[in-house]
Amino acid sequence: MASAPAPGHGPQRRRALVTGASSGIGEAVARVLAENGHDLVLVARRQDKLTDLAADLTARHGLNVQVVATDLANPDAPAALADEMGRRELAIDILVNNAGTMTFGRFADADGEAIDAMVALNIAALTGLCRRFVDPMVQRGYGRILNVASIAAFLPAPSLAVYAATKAYVLSLTEGLAEELRGTGVTATAVCPGLTDTELAKPLLSSLPFARLVPKGLVMSSTRSVAREGYRACMAGEVVALPGPVAQATALGTRLPPKWMLRTALGIVGRRLS
Ligand SMILES: NC(=O)c1ccc[n+]([C@@H]2O[C@H](COP(=O)([O-])OP(=O)(O)OC[C@H]3O[C@@H](n4cnc5c(N)ncnc54)[C@H](OP(=O)(O)O)[C@@H]3O)[C@@H](O)[C@H]2O)c1
Repeated sequence: MASAPAPGHGPQRRRALVTGASSGIGEAVARVLAENGHDLVLVARRQDKLTDLAADLTARHGLNVQVVATDLANPDAPAALADEMGRRELAIDILVNNAGTMTFGRFADADGEAIDAMVALNIAALTGLCRRFVDPMVQRGYGRILNVASIAAFLPAPSLAVYAATKAYVLSLTEGLAEELRGTGVTATAVCPGLTDTELAKPLLSSLPFARLVPKGLVMSSTRSVAREGYRACMAGEVVALPGPVAQATALGTRLPPKWMLRTALGIVGRRLS
């Protein structure tokens, strides 16, 4: 089926909704989308950060940039956000599910509330938003979903067991969706970054024994390079994007050895970190 522009705005002004746009990868994706002429809806909890970013992007690019401050770990948030888009009469053509948290450490010692909040955000909110925005995209014959997974999606990851499992879910859901959506004009892409220079990665980086020995640029990607590759792959309708050589090498490295060998090696590293 041919892609048709969404009603109310042409192909150059397709509107994107970005979750977790107040910092890190989400902010960088919002900037790349703005540079490519997309109107935006920015979503996260910190309203002041979103408002500042919206003002900056509007001034630079002359776009319509709107803000919704909400806690997406709240089970009602995806439905409320979709309703809010209806009230504002904003059709969403590109959905970027980026908001995510990471807990780090032994599962047995974990803070239960932090784990529940991570599952609610990384899995339930992402699924809820896909559910609410995919069908209108299919009805209009055009849409792009960009789900931010991680290279952790490919790895059994001791000390990051629940986080990695949430990202494996994101990857699996995206791959399933991508096939279901074939021929509808709507595509789904999972971008799987390696370590990226954000607040979220700081505790992990400082715990990695090798990280102190090599220049930061060799182990960490910039948010901008991840955002640019995610945007490119999303607009091209690619299903899985691995931004940068570290992510590509890690994904390849997980396919070569048998799973038990990978688990054992990562277990040794993981036990040293926790
Ligand atoms: N950094 C890495 O090394 C790396 C690698 C692979 C994948 N990722 C993934 O990239 C995504 C973005 O992470 P990041 O590294 O850019 O970290 P970050 O700078 O901490 O950004 C996280 C974003 O999510 C938002 N957020 C957190 N909890 C939220 C909630 N309950 N409701 C709504 N928004 C919430 C935060 O905004 P507020 O605090 O304002 O709500 C912030 O905008 C995550 O899905 C992460 O798993 C990161």
